[in-house]
Amino acid sequence: MRPTFSLSLLLLVPLYAGAQEEKRVPGTEPIKVVKIERKDPVTYEHDVEPIFVKKCAFCHSGNVKEARLDMGSYEGLMKGGKRGKAVIPGNADGSLLYQLAGKMRRPMMPPKSETPLTPEEYALIKLWIDQGAKAPSGMRVKPKVIVGLPPPNVQPVRAVAVSPDKKLVIGARGNQIHVYDADKGDYLRSLVDPNLTTADKKPVKAAHLSLVESLAVSPDCKLIASGGFQEVILWDAATGAIKHKLTGFADRVVALAFSPDGKMLATGGGAPTEDGEVKLYDPATGNLVRELKNCHSDTVFGVSFSGDNKMLATCGADKFVKTWETATGKFIKSFEGHTHHVLDVGWKSDGKLLASAGADNVVKIWDFEKGEQLRTIQAAGKQLTRLVFIGTTDQFVTCSGDAQVRAWSTGGGNTGTFGGHNDYVYAVGVSPDGNLVAAGGEEGVVRLYKNRAGTPFKSLVPPDAAPKEEPKKETKKK
Ligand code: HEC
Repeated sequence: MRPTFSLSLLLLVPLYAGAQEEKRVPGTEPIKVVKIERKDPVTYEHDVEPIFVKKCAFCHSGNVKEARLDMGSYEGLMKGGKRGKAVIPGNADGSLLYQLAGKMRRPMMPPKSETPLTPEEYALIKLWIDQGAKAPSGMRVKPKVIVGLPPPNVQPVRAVAVSPDKKLVIGARGNQIHVYDADKGDYLRSLVDPNLTTADKKPVKAAHLSLVESLAVSPDCKLIASGGFQEVILWDAATGAIKHKLTGFADRVVALAFSPDGKMLATGGGAPTEDGEVKLYDPATGNLVRELKNCHSDTVFGVSFSGDNKMLATCGADKFVKTWETATGKFIKSFEGHTHHVLDVGWKSDGKLLASAGADNVVKIWDFEKGEQLRTIQAAGKQLTRLVFIGTTDQFVTCSGDAQVRAWSTGGGNTGTFGGHNDYVYAVGVSPDGNLVAAGGEEGVVRLYKNRAGTPFKSLVPPDAAPKEEPKKETKKK
């Protein structure tokens, strides 16, 4: 909690602190922080916004959003720019905006050609940030989300997973998770949390209360991980019993990946337009091992480990692909080039290449060492929703909104097509040898493909649904 502001408090902004001296841009005088005496809190709408409008917004709002920083609204400002958060509430000295506007760091803001902030303006901004960078009053406070049940008729497949031993296929529909025998296509069981109830304590027979958004199977095939709103459940794959329930997530968990050695589980999610959230867990104990703080400025949609378990790639709504050291959480480098949300990322097992799939309908291949984009593949006519590398090969499978499921090589060639879908495809799973592919989407059907065949050998429907295959009608022959 931040200390509450007291009206009786006389606020004095300290003189420019010597601690920042070393960060100062050589040859430039940093802006002095003057003393301002205020008995009332500094507000965004009266004090700060007018400064931004006068000195910043013509480069940071509307059609021109330099460094993707939108200073045209409080929300945009708090979201930050391409370098991440610009304002850290309660900590002006640590805020990028304050450092750049004070000419302590490059790029100095506003740029040299423009009128700099006056010391008074600068002091007001500092005070506002130090007082918690409060939103303009009258702004809607985010309502607390009460998770409701998805309507029973909405049963698209949002997540699919294939066990590496090719024995199980798991599909998530609405708040249900259905486990099938991959060989015969038989329904085996549903994963059900026996203690699940609605907010008013009515029992619910489901895996999660709200939509299941992500699924993964551990490399030893013993665990199934599922992600929903603010939680992840680790299930015993053989019995369907709950092993661990992971909680404390800010929002939906939309991405899950086990490390190749099975020792880590990465989760991706976060509240839209606020923050990306990436956490690493020990799947054996369910303990949180590490959180990547301030990793993305918007929801994280994809997580993927390198083959040696040492690195993690993440991607998200902020259009970035980023890479991290799993042992320390240290940022390695970022890859920029997608023009829309990056919905998934995959790491070629040898760690040399990354492939990312975007809402801009393209796949981009990146050279990890050089930090460069190698090529763009026009992979779909609508957004690409998932991307999974096939084992240790240089091939990967994508699915997309235009009802396509396809295999590609990192060289850009289309190496396979898995047909039969008639609507948006959200999810795809692939066995490490590439010989079992499962995909599903809006239709609620999980289609299974064997040995790279282009037509499904099984179409898995919900267990309680009437068979989707045309009933063999007694056609009256005349
Ligand atoms: C004349 C245009 C212009 C004006 C005016 C301007 N900026 Fe910028 N701003 C830029 C450009 C260009 C960049 C990107 C520079 C770079 O990435 O090296 C930038 C980057 C930034 C960033 C870094 C964002 C990020 O995440 O990378 C911040 C913070 C910022 N500006 C704040 C301000 C503030 C505060 C003001 C007003 C006091 C201001 N700018 C005025 C052009 C402008």
